[in-house]
Amino acid sequence: MPSFPKTYRKVVLTGFGDTLRGHTAIEDTPWQDPGPQEVVIRNVLAGVNGIYDLNMARNAVDYITISPPTDMGIEVVGRIVKVGTEVNGLVPGDAVATWKVGTGYRDYQVAPVSRLYKVPAPTAEILALIPTGASGLVGLEQVGEMTTGEVVAVSAAAGALGHIVAQTAKLAGNHVIALAGSAEKCDRLRALGLDRVIDYRKEDLAAVLTREYPKGIDIAYDSVGGEVFDIFLDHLAVHGRLIISGYTAEVGKPTDVSPRPRPWTQLYFKSASIRGFINPHFKQVEPRAIARLLDLYARKRLQVWADPTPFVGLEAVVDAVEYLLAGKNLGKVIVKLADDPGPAV
Ligand SMILES: NC(=O)c1ccc[n+]([C@@H]2O[C@H](COP(=O)([O-])OP(=O)(O)OC[C@H]3O[C@@H](n4cnc5c(N)ncnc54)[C@H](OP(=O)(O)O)[C@@H]3O)[C@@H](O)[C@H]2O)c1
Repeated sequence: MPSFPKTYRKVVLTGFGDTLRGHTAIEDTPWQDPGPQEVVIRNVLAGVNGIYDLNMARNAVDYITISPPTDMGIEVVGRIVKVGTEVNGLVPGDAVATWKVGTGYRDYQVAPVSRLYKVPAPTAEILALIPTGASGLVGLEQVGEMTTGEVVAVSAAAGALGHIVAQTAKLAGNHVIALAGSAEKCDRLRALGLDRVIDYRKEDLAAVLTREYPKGIDIAYDSVGGEVFDIFLDHLAVHGRLIISGYTAEVGKPTDVSPRPRPWTQLYFKSASIRGFINPHFKQVEPRAIARLLDLYARKRLQVWADPTPFVGLEAVVDAVEYLLAGKNLGKVIVKLADDPGPAV
């Protein structure tokens, strides 16, 4: 019989503030057995959503009520260590991916079977696709109404979400403009065969778009906000769609009140639109997007990037968040919580 710990550790938000550092603690929590339709998972790798984590600390996640102490972390890959009495088709040792706010930054979690994706192994690449990569694809297709033969511009294109957005837009037969903030990131993006890679810290983004894309951008997939958002808005094509998928450059700052013309001036005469996107509103299409991305990855049609900087253990969570918020990452930032115990023998 396997033995389980009486307690395990988790990261909690202890109070609100402008940084995560100083507002989290690692606490013990009692072992909990699974209910009939639940499993216990040994979390192996946790995905870092630095912007979301910071927004939790700032009490700025609009659609949830946060009252510290609050459990943190969202997506993980891991191995099932115990199954409930009515669970069929899953056994200890199975690798799974799952996500829910408050279940990521902890050593174990109890999860209902309805929230599990059975995966080949708990790897960093699978974690990067579920759900971050899938969110990008859902945003492109459902909100951006992506077709083919269009010009698609992607900000933070070397990021966890962005590199999947850029590649899936290219795979669909579009002309892809990728923005990133360093030479190394741009080299990696060029190696993906994207059509135009722009180091927006060195090149003048507005000038490049004016000169090279006089007809404008059909889909601008933006998760950065600020000036990049403004420039995308100024350069939409007829029927152009500007997707707001995030606002990284503005997180933690007072809302930018920008003295610009009202947006109708950029939209009306082009039948263009600005469209907000947040993945909780698209749950019904997520499973299909995940299955397609896993298939593309398995067939080596898609590169999936996990940032190589090692963050190990719950103590490293705040460092990992700060690393992401400093814009240093290439691909998904991940915290390793345990060695993969491997499948049951
Ligand atoms: N809509 C949704 O459902 C959904 C789902 C998941 C994530 N998101 C959002 O998508 C965005 C990307 O998330 P992610 O986890 O994939 O992060 P990420 O893109 O891997 O990392 C953030 C990147 O943003 C760029 N950046 C631009 N301006 C920045 C600034 N002022 N400070 C720091 N970084 C800056 C940096 O790359 P460069 O320097 O190369 O620009 C940085 O690497 C976030 O805003 C997140 O909230 C949205």
